[in-house]
Amino acid sequence: MKRFEKEREILKSGFTGDMESDQMKGMPQPPLEKPISEEDEIIVLPEATGELVKKKDIFECIMDRKSHRNFKKESLNLEELSFLLYTTQGVKEVRGGGYASIRPVPSAGARHPFETYIGVTNVEGLEKGIYRYSGLKHQLIKVKIEEEIGEKMTIGARGQKFVGEAPVTFIWTIIPYRGEWRYDARSHKPMLLDAGHLCHGLYLSAEALNLGTCAIAAYEQKLMDDIVGVDGVDEFVVYMSPVGKV
Ligand SMILES: Cc1cc2nc3c(=O)[nH]c(=O)nc-3n(C[C@H](O)[C@H](O)[C@H](O)COP(=O)(O)O)c2cc1C
Repeated sequence: MKRFEKEREILKSGFTGDMESDQMKGMPQPPLEKPISEEDEIIVLPEATGELVKKKDIFECIMDRKSHRNFKKESLNLEELSFLLYTTQGVKEVRGGGYASIRPVPSAGARHPFETYIGVTNVEGLEKGIYRYSGLKHQLIKVKIEEEIGEKMTIGARGQKFVGEAPVTFIWTIIPYRGEWRYDARSHKPMLLDAGHLCHGLYLSAEALNLGTCAIAAYEQKLMDDIVGVDGVDEFVVYMSPVGKV
C-alpha cells in the first residue's frame, strides 16, 4: 500500500546513519521550560501530596482507568489541580547543572519537550482563563483571563462539548527544538511517544483522585494555538485532556 508511504515514515525509527545535531555542534541548549518574566502574574500552588489519593491500589487504578466524557458540574480545588500538574510535569530533579529535568513521566533523552497550559472554567480560587504551569517552580502563570474560555475550547475541540464543560482542560504544547537540539531529525517520533506517556500519567493521576479524563487529539490546530497564545511554529498544541469529577 503506497498511499501513506510518506506519512508512515515518522512511525519508523530514524536512528540510522550519522547525525550532527545542534548539541553535537556545541549550540546552546534551549531552556528546560519557558521562562517566567517579572511582569507575569504568579499563582503559588499548594504542595502536591499523596495524602490526597483516594484510590491507593495501583492495580485498581490501572484496571479502572477509562476515558470519561461526562463530568459533574462541580469544581476542582487547588489541591487536586496541584496534584495533577505535579504528578504529570512537576520537576523532581534537575541534572547536569540544567542539562536535564527528571519528572514523573519518562521522556526520550529527558528532553521533556512540552509545556502544560490549563483552560480553567471551574477551579476554586482561579478565574476562568488560560494558565501555564511551571514544573520547575510548581507555580501557575496567568496567561489570560477569559469568561468564554469553555465555549472557545469546545469550538477548538471540534464541537466536543465535554472539553469546554470540564472544570479544567489540560492543553499540552510542544516546543520541538528541545528534542531537535539533541536528536535532530530523529527527535520527532520520540517526542510524540513522549506525549502518550504524559497523557497516560494524567489518566492514572486522575483515577487515583476519583476524577476522570479523556485524551483529545481531534482539535483545530490554529484555533487551539490561538487560544493558548502560541505561534504555531516553534510552539504549538499537540494534545489535550479535560479533567473533572465523574
Ligand atoms: C491519542 C488519542 C487521541 C484521542 N482522541 C480523542 C478525541 O479527540 N475525542 C474522544 O472523545 N476520545 C479520544 N480518545 C479516547 C479514545 O477514544 C479512547 O481511549 C478509546 O476509545 C478507548 O477507550 P478507553 O480509554 O476508555 O479505554 C483519544 C485517545 C487517544 C489515546
